[in-house]
Amino acid sequence: MTNLQIFLDIATEAALAAGAVLQGYFGKLEDAVTEKGRPGDLVTAADKASEAVVLEILRRHFPQHSILAEESGKLGNQDNEYLWAIDPLDGTTNYAHQYPAFCVSIGLLIDGVPQVGAIYDPFHDELFRAAVGLGATRNRQPIKVSDTAELSKSLLVTGFAYDRRETSDNNYAEFCHLTHLTQGVRRSGSATLDLAHVACGRVDGYWERGIAPWDIIAGVILLQEAGGKVTAYDGTPLKIESGRILATNGSIHDNLSQALMQTPPLSAWQ
Ligand code: IPD
Ligand code: CA
Ligand code: CA
Repeated sequence: MTNLQIFLDIATEAALAAGAVLQGYFGKLEDAVTEKGRPGDLVTAADKASEAVVLEILRRHFPQHSILAEESGKLGNQDNEYLWAIDPLDGTTNYAHQYPAFCVSIGLLIDGVPQVGAIYDPFHDELFRAAVGLGATRNRQPIKVSDTAELSKSLLVTGFAYDRRETSDNNYAEFCHLTHLTQGVRRSGSATLDLAHVACGRVDGYWERGIAPWDIIAGVILLQEAGGKVTAYDGTPLKIESGRILATNGSIHDNLSQALMQTPPLSAWQ
């Protein structure tokens, strides 16, 4: 078995175990929901319990590897070439409201490049997996992106970061612009699921600003292995630390990039 297959299998074990934790807490949080800082940026007992399960499994199998986990921050030797990026509950706001769009996201960067991803949506019992050269699957069956080639026939998805009240660079103008140019733009509330849904052809493209590495690493490798394309807004290589991502089925990529770069100011719609 290759190392990538081993990493993928352990990531899967952790995602499934953490997903079971999320299912267990779903609808039973009561007052175990607090704000982390910015208004609306929630953390729950489920985020913490899920992260503890993932950390225990990854550290047991890979004690030398570096970890970046949303609730715990950087852990272990950060100079290691292997870096796990963990979102124990992507879609916390949905989860706290019992809106069923959330997942566990576990991605592995090797020398800064996304190489392995395991994503588990426990409510719908959907497991997405991928590793470089090993393909992308949903519940162990191969998946691929849609073949929609025109922006005017596409369905997109996006999100709005927690700093949206503090900056005019909050994606509202892009949302209006793309809503006019396409068949629709959805806002699921889970960046990882957004990428997974592009990967399996349910939507044709996704973009967002203000996102963290743990939101996207697993989804990026899943989408690439499903035949999609991931870049910066302007089509240049993705810079994970920039917090901006454009991810599509490939066919609409250039047109969506161009549309994003030519977004008129929000005042155009008033
Ligand atoms: C958030 C979700 C949301 C996205 C935000 C993320 P969280 O993650 O992925 O879809 O729009 O930017 O921060 O807080 O639910 O883990
Ligand atoms: Ca997240
Ligand atoms: Ca989270």
